[in-house]
Amino acid sequence: MKKVTAHALIEKKKARQPITWLTAYDYPMAQFEEKAGIDIILVGDSIGMTTYGFDSTLPVTMDLLIPHTQAVRKGAPNVFLIGDMPYMSYQVCAQEAVRNAGRFMAECGCDAIKLEGGREVLDTIKAILRATVPVVGHLGLTPQSIAMLGGFKAQGRDADAAVRLIEDAGVCMILLEAVPPEVGKIIAERAQIPIIGIGAGPHVDGQCLIVHDMLGMFEAFTPKFVKKYASIGEQIVTALKNFTQDVTRGGFPAPEHCYKMPESELRKLEELVKPIK
Ligand code: KIV
Repeated sequence: MKKVTAHALIEKKKARQPITWLTAYDYPMAQFEEKAGIDIILVGDSIGMTTYGFDSTLPVTMDLLIPHTQAVRKGAPNVFLIGDMPYMSYQVCAQEAVRNAGRFMAECGCDAIKLEGGREVLDTIKAILRATVPVVGHLGLTPQSIAMLGGFKAQGRDADAAVRLIEDAGVCMILLEAVPPEVGKIIAERAQIPIIGIGAGPHVDGQCLIVHDMLGMFEAFTPKFVKKYASIGEQIVTALKNFTQDVTRGGFPAPEHCYKMPESELRKLEELVKPIK
């Protein structure tokens, strides 16, 4: 797979070739996604819910995300890799935001970082960009603001915030989450940069999903915008039950799972290990 760059993504937009974006949190999944030709991988703070069992993304920290992002880069050296700035890694002050954004670039080999919010993070985005770190915006349903938004609800009025992020701040891409298709269409048509949707309808420049949602590996809840492409969770449970049944009934291990020993060696071993009296 050829290295996916920001330039290549803009070319895809211009050529009206839809861009694909998934999350990944570990080395094997990153390998599968690169093999499948996915353009963008985000090591999202959704890891808190999909992998660590938290109720929200808020407990996720830089120190938790860094090793996962490193593993994903090892598994997928050619995708456009985005590091996800977790809650309170950029809200306190611009200096901290720049330092944390820089960690994703220097320690993980990311191509960009993503942070949530509109007007309120403009100055922070500018500071990160001045430090030469490309920034992806995230508008609409922004899970880190769940307390302010009053739950995981669809959002609506983000065209103005998008214009600000693009024109005032200079982000290289925007992720639009849970907004009506009309909003996605208006923003994607007017923007020169890729506008990717996760629940933003079909008229945006590409589609993003959380990999655990689309593979059927996250069972707590399924947002309206998710299409399930597999039921891996169910398959895992079936496989585990089969293993338990096999072990219980003596069906595993079978001769083909056992190492062979030459007869002569076996005799020697029997001779050496005399019956204990
Ligand atoms: O953390 C995450 O996985 C996200 C999704 C909305 C893609 O930000």
